[in-house]
Amino acid sequence: MERVQQHSLSSQLKITIPLTFAPHNQVTLFHGDCMDFMRTIPDQSVQLVVTSPPYNIGKEYEDVLDIEAYKAQQRQVISECVRILGRKGSICWQVGNYVNRGEIIPLDVLLYDCFRENALKLRNRIVWHFGHGLHCSNRFSGRYETINWFTKSDDYVFNLDPVRVPQKYPGKRHFKGPRRGELSGNPMGKNPSDVWDIPNVKANHVEKSEHPCQFPVALVQRLVLSLTNADDLVFDPFLGVGTTAIAAVINGRRAAGSECVEGYHDLAVERVTKALAGELRVRLDRPVYEPSRHLGLTVNPWHKGN
Ligand SMILES: C[S@@+](CC[C@H](N)C(=O)[O-])C[C@H]1O[C@@H](n2cnc3c(N)ncnc32)[C@H](O)[C@@H]1O
Repeated sequence: MERVQQHSLSSQLKITIPLTFAPHNQVTLFHGDCMDFMRTIPDQSVQLVVTSPPYNIGKEYEDVLDIEAYKAQQRQVISECVRILGRKGSICWQVGNYVNRGEIIPLDVLLYDCFRENALKLRNRIVWHFGHGLHCSNRFSGRYETINWFTKSDDYVFNLDPVRVPQKYPGKRHFKGPRRGELSGNPMGKNPSDVWDIPNVKANHVEKSEHPCQFPVALVQRLVLSLTNADDLVFDPFLGVGTTAIAAVINGRRAAGSECVEGYHDLAVERVTKALAGELRVRLDRPVYEPSRHLGLTVNPWHKGN
């Protein structure tokens, strides 16, 4: 069945999401290949690109390529992202490892020169740490992925205050010098650092959809709030079920993205529509839950004395 230009999801919500790009669209969700979509976006019109590309590990939406062919494909997408990126803009590439018969290749290392050859500058290599995943028996279980944040110039947008996190000891005071006795921390909280502890989207996560590797809204939200201003355009070439667009619109930014699998694209439209209507449930960016040591499940049944 031919897909129409405008996609109207729900007559109750009465929100229509365009499928083709126009500079003043609040949201554009393209169904198809990201290179085809980017050709329709003018030079320097995007403030932030955030994406989690295919990892080339045989997920249901990807063909496993020779690692150099994979890199060549990513290089093309990265160059086109640089073309549409504004002068003060940022690109955040969120990746894990390519795994080949137990050998791992960190994809941020593999792809680093694709950014450097476009004269982008790396500002942070953010470690995204999470608590759940596969249990390995021949190496340590992987519990982090990375986000490489690059900028196009030295004059880039960076707003720290909206992403500050609570201090461990907010009551700490200067213990010497002219400010002795005064509170030493920032009342708005501290810099979140380059290690982010945010739960990944597994079975019980409130954002879980049928996509096998969504990233959480809270992760993208930190990038949106710190690297863009109100109404800026945020773009994701590998949109999946729309997480980047959701993080953008719930924070008053415009969004565009492309997804080639029809079922995921449909889900992206559904989720973004709900987000625009204020009806999508997302996990807030708050500290990870630590269970009490005295709950049934946290008591060690093998340990004598319990
Ligand atoms: C790792 S997933 C991204 C998931 C996304 N971050 C989310 O939270 O839903 C990568 C996505 O890219 C899509 N994809 C792969 N190649 C593509 C291409 N050439 N153009 C557009 N989408 C593509 C896949 O179908 C998959 O849904």
